[in-house]
Amino acid sequence: MNEGQIERQELLSDEEAMAATVKMRAKLDAGGLTEVNRQTMIGIADRLIALAKEGRPTLAESVMEVDTGIYTDPALFEAETHAIFDRFPFVAGLSRDVEKPGDFLNTSDFGTPTIVTRNKDGQIKAFVNSCRHRGAALVYEPSGNTGAGFTCPYHGWSYNLDGKLLGITCNSSFGNPDKGEHGLVEVAAEERHGLIFVATKPGVSLNLDEYLGDELNQELPHWGFDKVQASKAAPIPLDGNWKLSLEAFLESYHFDYAHRDNLAHFYFGNVADVTPMGRHLRFSVPHKSIMELADQPVDEWVPENHITLAYMLFPGTILINSPQVLEFFQIVPVSVGKSIVRHACYARMDLNEPGNREMFEMTWESAHSIVLRQDLPYGVTTAHAGVKGKAMPKFLFGRNEMALQHMHGEIRKAVAEGAS
Ligand code: FES
Ligand SMILES: [Fe+2]
Repeated sequence: MNEGQIERQELLSDEEAMAATVKMRAKLDAGGLTEVNRQTMIGIADRLIALAKEGRPTLAESVMEVDTGIYTDPALFEAETHAIFDRFPFVAGLSRDVEKPGDFLNTSDFGTPTIVTRNKDGQIKAFVNSCRHRGAALVYEPSGNTGAGFTCPYHGWSYNLDGKLLGITCNSSFGNPDKGEHGLVEVAAEERHGLIFVATKPGVSLNLDEYLGDELNQELPHWGFDKVQASKAAPIPLDGNWKLSLEAFLESYHFDYAHRDNLAHFYFGNVADVTPMGRHLRFSVPHKSIMELADQPVDEWVPENHITLAYMLFPGTILINSPQVLEFFQIVPVSVGKSIVRHACYARMDLNEPGNREMFEMTWESAHSIVLRQDLPYGVTTAHAGVKGKAMPKFLFGRNEMALQHMHGEIRKAVAEGAS
């Protein structure tokens, strides 16, 4: 995501956010998801219509109680870092964020200062953002284009887009070292389904067949992540443990309360189809308009116009799909009591068509405002304030909070695997 484009806007009120949603819904043909798997979407729509009639989401088997120490224990945070963040990849951005050779993203989110770029052959590459001479960073902007390679601003050593050392200034003073031995330190990175997956440190390999699993590897290509257009992006730093930040995105139970004056007008609150997919999961929420489908022949259904469908990629990437936009959230752990939510919004609609850019901007502002004014204060910062002094011993996750239960189960499993 291109944070060169960050602009801090005034937050929208509920009325303004709703007006943006009304406008967007009136233009459902703005983008269209031509590749979406129709049978999958029809299956989800069928289940959502039945669930909406019952007024409930897919249910977990039982209630889950958790000790709130999981949000405040520094030793557990260390164990999570080791077992989860040092092992699993993160999504640094989408293919369009690094579109041309020399385009780069610069991130230190997961501890390693990392440049993600595209080489002359069009392949994604990632390197430690640190010169092999004495460690100065090679790029300083959050994103940009570096041309044919990198030149260190400190003493002028140069590298190509494959990380190969090309030039050492004052070469003879260094005893003509073998340039092949002094290339940039590579970090594993791979582009798949329009997403750029990057390891969090050198020496950690990526195995996306295994990491994503068969089901997601078949399903993700249908969402056209490789075809999205311009993005808006902003990081949101939070006083709250990363698991609280993750929880904020995984249930619709809160819609009728936290979002009663905005999203609750369009969505059924506390109704969702939740499908665990290995460590990951799919989470679909019905628009109230989905009930119109019940009176239409299935052949005429366009289910994606009535469903907002999210994927949660373990441990903290959230991709929320509609026919018009992709909302992207990446949860970044900073310390036991701090996290960052990176929010980006990508357009699926043609932004050159009259009115679409304005609508895209409004959609971004609407989602960003709702998240900042409601989801994150309730779910993260005030919740963390309540647990950090151990004043609040336990949390309860209901049977209607299955996605949260699944994620906590997977986090526990990964920590146990890391400890063994
Ligand atoms: S640190 Fe890069 S050239 Fe010296
Ligand atoms: Fe919310």
